[in-house]
Amino acid sequence: MKIVTTPREVREAIDHEKKAGTRVGFVPTMGALHEGHVSLVRMARSRTGFVAASIFVNPKQFGPKEDLSRYPQTFDRDRRMLEDLGCDLLFHPDERSLYSSADRTRIAVDELSDVLCGASRTGHFHGVALVVAKLFNIVRPDEAYFGQKDAQQAVVIQRMSADLDFSVRIVLGPTVREADGLAMSSRNVYLDPAARAHAPAMYRSLREARARIESGERDPSPIVAMMKTAMRDAGFDVEYACAVDGATLKAIERIDGTVLIACAGRIGGTRLIDNVALRVSGASVEEILLEFPEWSRYA
Ligand code: PAF
Repeated sequence: MKIVTTPREVREAIDHEKKAGTRVGFVPTMGALHEGHVSLVRMARSRTGFVAASIFVNPKQFGPKEDLSRYPQTFDRDRRMLEDLGCDLLFHPDERSLYSSADRTRIAVDELSDVLCGASRTGHFHGVALVVAKLFNIVRPDEAYFGQKDAQQAVVIQRMSADLDFSVRIVLGPTVREADGLAMSSRNVYLDPAARAHAPAMYRSLREARARIESGERDPSPIVAMMKTAMRDAGFDVEYACAVDGATLKAIERIDGTVLIACAGRIGGTRLIDNVALRVSGASVEEILLEFPEWSRYA
């Protein structure tokens, strides 16, 4: 695996692959890799001929009171993991390689960025959209892989990519979970034993939501109320629980079509998020990964 730190080195490596007609898969990360990232790299490896990953803790997506300074940094371990997975190129820039004090451009993905997590994390998705746009310009991947756990992030990135005509296909990988259902996240290391013991209640509330929908419930209100109560009873400070349209992230009045049931909350001071995406049609309820067909206009 080649490790590079500048956009120019990435471009050179990718130019070489593109000239050979190789399809490039890309897994952007902030490091502190876990099995969720591993599954995305495996997916990239199985679908494309050249796999690039990036590790960059992007300061622009952290608010002033967030955990930028203590975000877990495990570069040597991450590098070995990527190497073992057969990743071809690792882009590990420092902040000055991506940003300069002269920068004045922002990317605001309207309506999708200030709801759900964006309601409390002001500017977060602007920072995500900006860094991902820059990384897409540098790497020029055919496909890029993101986790279903960060469904809103994927929806924002898909919208940004379609609106700015990036010819990249956004592919989601399933949320990888611990044995007790807790969604894997780089931030799970912040959980103390008591918080860790209660954290799976979040996913249990999503499973109960799905079970109620399978039993025929189509009104989101009692489902959302149940989720909030279940999370509060487990000690969560609930930020939101909601049922939204899987493409627009707008609240829905009836559970039908592609629906995202999503929640966020703090337990023992650590902020966790989780979701399930469902395709609901008549009596049929199927758990899905969000899909973004718009890339196909470039195929
Ligand atoms: O999901 C993440 O790890 C980050 O938000 C991403 C997509 C790498 C952008 O910094």
